Amino acid sequence: MAVDLGSRTTKAVLLERRGELLALCRYALLDAPIYEKKFSADLLSDHLRSVAEALGNPTKLITLGIGLDDAVVRQVELPQIPVSEMRMVLKNNSRAYLQQDLPNYVFDCYIFPPRQENGKSAEAPRTGTGAIPKLKVLAAGAKQTALNDFQTAIKNAGLTPDCIVPGLIGPANAFELASPQVFANETVALVDIGFKQTSICILDHGELVLSRVVSIGGDTLTTGLADAMKATYAEAEGAKVGMSPDAKSAIEAQVVPLGRELRASLDFFEHQQDRPVSQIYISGGTSRSEMILQMLHSEMIVECKTWNPTGFLQMALPGQMAVEIDHVGPQLTVAVGAALSAF
Ligand SMILES: Nc1ncnc2c1ncn2[C@@H]1O[C@H](COP(=O)(O)OP(=O)(O)OP(=O)(O)O)[C@@H](O)[C@H]1O
Ligand SMILES: [Mg+2]
Repeated sequence: MAVDLGSRTTKAVLLERRGELLALCRYALLDAPIYEKKFSADLLSDHLRSVAEALGNPTKLITLGIGLDDAVVRQVELPQIPVSEMRMVLKNNSRAYLQQDLPNYVFDCYIFPPRQENGKSAEAPRTGTGAIPKLKVLAAGAKQTALNDFQTAIKNAGLTPDCIVPGLIGPANAFELASPQVFANETVALVDIGFKQTSICILDHGELVLSRVVSIGGDTLTTGLADAMKATYAEAEGAKVGMSPDAKSAIEAQVVPLGRELRASLDFFEHQQDRPVSQIYISGGTSRSEMILQMLHSEMIVECKTWNPTGFLQMALPGQMAVEIDHVGPQLTVAVGAALSAF
């Protein structure tokens, strides 16, 4: 089981290894728990029990994808040392490597394999002395206390923690398997529009070269729309999800600032690297709206499309779930990507 702890909607998937293939056996969407002011392990524990039940209590093993505020993720360059030492280097020098003090954080690292160019592996970046090449590493960190809370919640729900992964990298992990050619050979942006926040990751020939978080999400769009329409939140949500033609220009006015913020991230990368981002692949609940995708396309002047993060999975879904997967798929991206960490 892999669970994406979204701030509005919890998304869960059940994946099973079948020989060479991975099968999608079930999925579930549940309202996220509403924490009073502060996170509660008890509340999360009850919630995870409901999630496991919704998936049919098939296994004890659970992987959690945690929110954008709960983890830092960056690509860094580190000397050729074992991962266990990398973790300590990051812990003791977070300001130098991650540009911020991160007291009481713990870290993990993934070493990117050297890039293949024209059949030869590319030169790794060198140190100042010119002797030993450095490694390109994806570093992720989270507060030790937060990890303890997640583990306690899992155990109290009668489950076994398998992996805890930053939700931010979910889309990239799913994309690598869903579109391996594009992943390996192109420069694309993966955008996940959440409830209060949106993440953008630029992937350049399989490498995560930029990630940013923008404080605009589906909730921001609905709140702004409610103001503009002088309507309630529920009415505005209905107009947004129902793609009401009357509300189109008001919706557009809310989507434009998101498009601008995302465009700024693309500009930053494009000016630095002097090459364009060719496609934008959008996931998250808001990507279910064709109208909003069109609006983002107009604002960013790059094609924005939704994609199917379950395309590489064998479908083993029961009745109604099989019927609805095409619509729900884009919202399951982070959960599918997180699940891959467990295989
Ligand atoms: N068909 C639709 N059209 C437009 N918006 C939609 C549609 N379906 C869902 N949404 C929006 O998607 C949002 C929830 O998306 P999602 O589940 O990706 O967020 P989350 O993962 O809980 O949040 P976060 O990632 O920020 O923690 C809601 O604001 C909802 O209005
Ligand atoms: Mg989300």
